[in-house]
Amino acid sequence: MTSAPLPGPVPSDGRAGPVQFGRHAPASHVIVHLSDTHLLAAGAALGGRYDVEANLAATLAAVERTGVRPDALVFTGDLTDLGEPDAYRRLRDAVEPLADRLGAPVVWVAGNHDERGAMRSGLFDGPADDGPLTGVWDLAGLRLVALDSSVPGWHHGEIDAQQREWLRGILSEPAPHGTILALHHPPIPSHVPLFDILELRDQDALAEAIAGSDVRAILAGHLHYSTSGTFAGVPVSVASATCYTMNLQRPPQEVNGMDAGQAFQLVHVYDDVITHTVVPVVEAPTGDYFSDEWIDRMARLSPRERLEAFSRKR
Ligand SMILES: [Fe+2]
Ligand SMILES: [Fe+2]
Repeated sequence: MTSAPLPGPVPSDGRAGPVQFGRHAPASHVIVHLSDTHLLAAGAALGGRYDVEANLAATLAAVERTGVRPDALVFTGDLTDLGEPDAYRRLRDAVEPLADRLGAPVVWVAGNHDERGAMRSGLFDGPADDGPLTGVWDLAGLRLVALDSSVPGWHHGEIDAQQREWLRGILSEPAPHGTILALHHPPIPSHVPLFDILELRDQDALAEAIAGSDVRAILAGHLHYSTSGTFAGVPVSVASATCYTMNLQRPPQEVNGMDAGQAFQLVHVYDDVITHTVVPVVEAPTGDYFSDEWIDRMARLSPRERLEAFSRKR
């Protein structure tokens, strides 16, 4: 005996809510993961080549087109290129209106191109001191922890002993839906040799700090290309950049930036798995779509009838 699940609640924009057609219930949480905006004061072009503000605007428009109602927008570092106060102002001006429309908090993570003092006063309205920029968010039972892997004066990364101790304290109590860590320097290798010089140091100590905890995923940036791996058994997902990305069609030692391939990620949190979906920022002719009416019609069928209607080869 099977029964057809009903469509979810219809939000105020008239779109149908998530429905369950397969084995998984709809995601309990969705996070938009973006990285490496690298803004400059006065809207300057990065390296005289990349219109980083236009590229960020295009990325944010793409986020909005997805129709997602995220639990948070997470930016995993290198928010500015030189840590200029005006660059942080411009970043807020670009991102906060979208965050307001989506009703989602913004999680700002520090990267090696950021300056802690300017970032703290520019994004958090706090004192311009050099302490690490960390934070903990309770996203309806999903815990998000922002770590600061920046090392003032350097481009490589580190989570120092004091921050690891702080993290251990946070993780000593599990959260209802588990924990996601966000940091700039990914704790996975890169096949592009230059990145290994700028890698996260003391990774073994970080692995010890999260051992046996409820950490379910690690979000990172820094590489300017999308990749994934595992760290101490935890899935790691690196979001590409909004500013420019690495042209990986070249041999590793020749990889460098290109003004294409920008992307962000949709992080869907299910009870037993987390998926990281890379969304390219591109406008291209796209096929017809499955309407709300079609979804509604499928939702009224039994699972067997749905297979007949949509799975059987004609
Ligand atoms: Fe970067
Ligand atoms: Fe970086």
